[in-house]
Amino acid sequence: MYPKQPHLQPEDVTGLVDTHCHLDLEPMASCLSVVLASARLAGVARFVVPGVHPAGWERMNVIAQEQGGVFPAFGIHPMHADLADDNVLGRLTEIAGSGIAIGEIGLDPLYSVPLEVQEGAFREQLRLAVSLGLPVLVHCRRAFQRVLQILREENAHQVRGIMHAFSGSVEMAREFMRLGFLISISGTVTWDNAVRPVSLARQLPLESLVLETDAPDLTPQDFRGQPNQPAYLVEVLRAVAQIRGLRPVDVLRQTTRNAEMLLYGHIHCD
Ligand code: NI
Repeated sequence: MYPKQPHLQPEDVTGLVDTHCHLDLEPMASCLSVVLASARLAGVARFVVPGVHPAGWERMNVIAQEQGGVFPAFGIHPMHADLADDNVLGRLTEIAGSGIAIGEIGLDPLYSVPLEVQEGAFREQLRLAVSLGLPVLVHCRRAFQRVLQILREENAHQVRGIMHAFSGSVEMAREFMRLGFLISISGTVTWDNAVRPVSLARQLPLESLVLETDAPDLTPQDFRGQPNQPAYLVEVLRAVAQIRGLRPVDVLRQTTRNAEMLLYGHIHCD
């Protein structure tokens, strides 16, 4: 299923953090040991797994217990915001502390769940994050001003977080950075038609960037047509390094440090 290997060889890269990969989803879940082995071979050492549907939380817990370097972040994705009733939020409150962040949460008008329902779930989960002192992993498409306003109103600067697979402008990214948020670059930066991700990778300070795959989605250019996997994070690293005219190892060191500092105390270095 995953015939090709990424370009960089193991000696070039070690210790990468994939700040957003859905290891509990198919097709990765069914061949997880193979997926993690090829990721480690490619230099990816740590994996942040955000919650999507409450039914996935238990599996995320099991994966984190069985696999070294896997860190869950529990939460309800905006596409499932209509599930965020008192009962589910109560379960989230119980389980959230065993994760390294709350996520993924946010707003996305491209989903069928009404925006006011998404906003309610987003605010509840932000309040939980602030009360637990956990950073947040934010999903946002085409609702950047609204998300920014909600983050401000809910005091998200106290916990900070990551704008995952950020698709906004450089100016908008800087607004989130003012709240202490990091901007995550995904495989879209490698796409032939990429414009905004390339501008973000070129213009934002390296101290504000982290890397992710969003596997199984957002497969990098050379592997498009196949499901994404964490091993392909090196494609994102390579693209950012090339865009900035830096060595991959320099981008790796700084982005890893950024992820560690945000998730300090939750994500452990070996
Ligand atoms: Ni995601």
